[in-house]
Amino acid sequence: MARYFEEELIEQIRNANDIVSVISEHVTLKKKGKTYWGCCPFHNEKTPSFSVNEERGLFHCFGCKAGGNVFTFVQKYENLTFPEAVEKLAKRANITIPEEERDPKAIAREKHKERMYEINDLAAVFFHNCLTKTNMGKGALSYLLKRGLTMENIHHFRLGYAPDNWSKLYDAFKKRGYTDQELVEAGLIRKGKKSYYDYFRNRVMFPIADGRGRVVGFGGRVMDDSTPKYLNSSETKMFDKGHLLFAFDKAHRRIRELGQVILMEGYMDVITAHCNQITNVVASLGTALTTHQIHLLQRQAKDVVLAYDMDNAGRMAVKRAIDLLRPFDFTVRVMVLPDGKDPDEFIRKNGEEAFLTIVKKAQSAFAFLFTDALARHDVTEASGKITFLEEMFSIVAKETTSMKRHALLEELESLLRSQGIDIRGNIAIYFEEFLENKKIEFVDEPEPDVTTIRNRETAEDTVMAYALQDEKALRAVLHFLEYQDFTSTLYQSMLEKLNTALSEGQSLSIPLMEEIFSEEERQEMEALLVLDREDRHRGFYIDIMRIRIQSLNHQYEIHSKRADQYAHEANSTEKMFAELQICEQIKKQKQQCLQEMREGEYSE
Ligand code: GTP
Ligand code: MN
Repeated sequence: MARYFEEELIEQIRNANDIVSVISEHVTLKKKGKTYWGCCPFHNEKTPSFSVNEERGLFHCFGCKAGGNVFTFVQKYENLTFPEAVEKLAKRANITIPEEERDPKAIAREKHKERMYEINDLAAVFFHNCLTKTNMGKGALSYLLKRGLTMENIHHFRLGYAPDNWSKLYDAFKKRGYTDQELVEAGLIRKGKKSYYDYFRNRVMFPIADGRGRVVGFGGRVMDDSTPKYLNSSETKMFDKGHLLFAFDKAHRRIRELGQVILMEGYMDVITAHCNQITNVVASLGTALTTHQIHLLQRQAKDVVLAYDMDNAGRMAVKRAIDLLRPFDFTVRVMVLPDGKDPDEFIRKNGEEAFLTIVKKAQSAFAFLFTDALARHDVTEASGKITFLEEMFSIVAKETTSMKRHALLEELESLLRSQGIDIRGNIAIYFEEFLENKKIEFVDEPEPDVTTIRNRETAEDTVMAYALQDEKALRAVLHFLEYQDFTSTLYQSMLEKLNTALSEGQSLSIPLMEEIFSEEERQEMEALLVLDREDRHRGFYIDIMRIRIQSLNHQYEIHSKRADQYAHEANSTEKMFAELQICEQIKKQKQQCLQEMREGEYSE
């Protein structure tokens, strides 16, 4: 049964928790006009697009579209249900919720959860004691010491040993008053034909904690070559492997400090890294990386470094991780350790410094995919070259913004050059073709079609939408285009104002635009910012050139018409020549544009 609060109580709690002060506890807000602005806590961003309206008691993010009231904020931010958020905010405002209003089911659930944490923690203590204080644990202890860990490391990660016995843990826990059902639910025992038995036996135990450091499950490793190598606690609501990252509780502070997270595959890799002062390191729990795990990292880091094994399985896992990370705003890089070593082995042999050097040199995700694909194609043959390029283009095409696509095309071009692969033509144009036909045809003299593909207004809207979202895009627009290249006078004045602001050293942000734009321009901005970003446009720079060329065409027409008029007027020969000269200049500018487009010299 869902829980119902009296409407009055909800109102009382809402009024007692001013939305600005609640959100300010987690987000730095700045007031501009009537609105407060900050960096959105629900997605990774550098310029503020998260707005809070105090009067209406609402928040809204223009970036990720998250929004709601003070209760929804707390629910989303702290991952709570509505009743939980109500209780939390009531507590914050010193409002006591009458006992009959407290949901007995919620109380029971909470008690049960506490009990599960308690059992898991006690199990960690039990395994740890078996390892460090008993004869049974001697073999396991020497196994871990042989793998390069110190006693301090073993304590730090609370490593343990599950005795080679069918009921040691069961007996100990029964004595303490835990029920069969509770122990089964915690995944520590199983029901056999006749009786219950310990699930983990004769294994080295790795406690797995949630982000707050509470033990929620275990991984247990054999000490020889028998299988399965690892056994994990069975999945429960509390131990949901897809939602957890190993060592996240120990790593998140450092991850946030550095803005960088290193993802590894194995428990031992992570432990060895942490024990060698590399502490921005976590692992997904045996399974492939999940979106939930990425969400955990989203607010902490902007750089992700994948440090997976470079065997076949590891390379597959890297590719899956890259695909999964793509929609998020991370910079993803892949490190390849020499001689196929895994991070555990490499760090033990070569130490922290050597490892960090390789982290620094880690290649981009795209370069990794390039090398990976190159190994599968014979690019000395034309057909191999084409299928190789098509594979790379299909990767570029996965990007949803043209800025990113363009950056990848540039990277592809330089990777091809570094490998001495000649493609006899302009990569951006091949890519356009690929998008059109899903296949590439090599042509000797590619001539970009700037007029028919897309009409000028659409190009203007798309270009403006990007320019308002990304400073680099804005600078490109200001560099390549004149204000009057835009047919919209509103766009002209917006760009002029932005140009002034940038040259005064300000950086592009929504609050800045709110400040400098007129009411009408602000409305236009809002309309542009909600333009569908997925809209299949065909390259930001190509759109810029399209606008420029069409504007030049238009100017050409005006001046040639004037020249024509002067030709029919008396005493206007000089004026006519002046106009014709302008026409020649415009022609030249147009040639230059086409040239730039062909050569791909689009960057600032
Ligand atoms: P060591 O061999 O001790 O260095 O362990 P490792 O962690 O390097 O193992 P490996 O690279 O083989 O596997 C990486 C991760 O995958 C492990 O840490 C586990 O989380 C998971 N894993 C490996 N083998 C198994 C298995 O048999 N069962 C399960 N459930 N998970 C496994
Ligand atoms: Mn290993």
